[in-house]
Amino acid sequence: MSPAEAAPTMRGLVPYGEGVFAAYNAKCKHLGCKAEWRSQAEAERLAPTVAIGRDLVVCGCHFSAYDTYDSAKVLKGPATQPLDQLRVKVAADGQLEIEFKDYRYDRFGRGRQV
Ligand code: FES
Repeated sequence: MSPAEAAPTMRGLVPYGEGVFAAYNAKCKHLGCKAEWRSQAEAERLAPTVAIGRDLVVCGCHFSAYDTYDSAKVLKGPATQPLDQLRVKVAADGQLEIEFKDYRYDRFGRGRQV
């Protein structure tokens, strides 16, 4: 995403090229089904009460909806917690690396493994 697309409250963003990146564990925080990126049209069909005018991550089991442009906060339950964030960093060779451990970012942007 571009820096302008990210909400000011977004945590764990890594600048890379023209944009910024964040990564999330796709395990839904309700009962653990796989949550997937959905286009705006598909998200509005699956979670019609959450029309925010952009693509979302929606769980296919009970249709919890997450806003990955704003730290994967829950827009529609039954999930009550945001998706777990994964640490992203730029390696020495310039590649993006995603560490497959869950992180939470506090309001100061400090990440810690959970
Ligand atoms: S497991 Fe994802 S909404 Fe229930």
